[in-house]
Amino acid sequence: MSYIGGHLAVVPGVDRELQLGVRYQPADDMTSDLLAIHVEDPERLTLDEISSILFSLPFAGHETTTGLIGNAARRLLEDPDRWTAVVAQPELIPAAVTESALLPGRAS
Ligand code: HEM
Repeated sequence: MSYIGGHLAVVPGVDRELQLGVRYQPADDMTSDLLAIHVEDPERLTLDEISSILFSLPFAGHETTTGLIGNAARRLLEDPDRWTAVVAQPELIPAAVTESALLPGRAS
């Protein structure tokens, strides 16, 4: 990890451009939306907060989802009848996912 001006360089280059007052090239993405808020009102959303959001999202989105997928697969494979039922009736999948999210434990 590298720090520029005390900010975690999750958005390489943008921090420096902002410090230099150069406008970054906004794109149709969440980072640009966050930076647009900062450019408009730096107190409303600081670069540290943007870095923190961008840093934590991959974890919030990845660990949870892979855990749920792994848990669901394990639960289905533990009982071949359960697996066969879901394969034969795909409409059962939403309930199987919800059930898996409610069950304790992580896939290991
Ligand atoms: C199976 C998948 C997921 C589960 C079980 C899950 C579960 C949760 C839970 C329980 C919270 C509340 C945490 C709290 O209040 O302390 C939360 C918050 C959050 N999740 Fe997920 N999550 C999942 C997938 C994702 C994905 C894919 C993303 C984004 C890519 C994501 C982004 C977030 C964010 C940003 C928050 C904070 C919301 C806030 O503070 O307002 N999550 N999640």
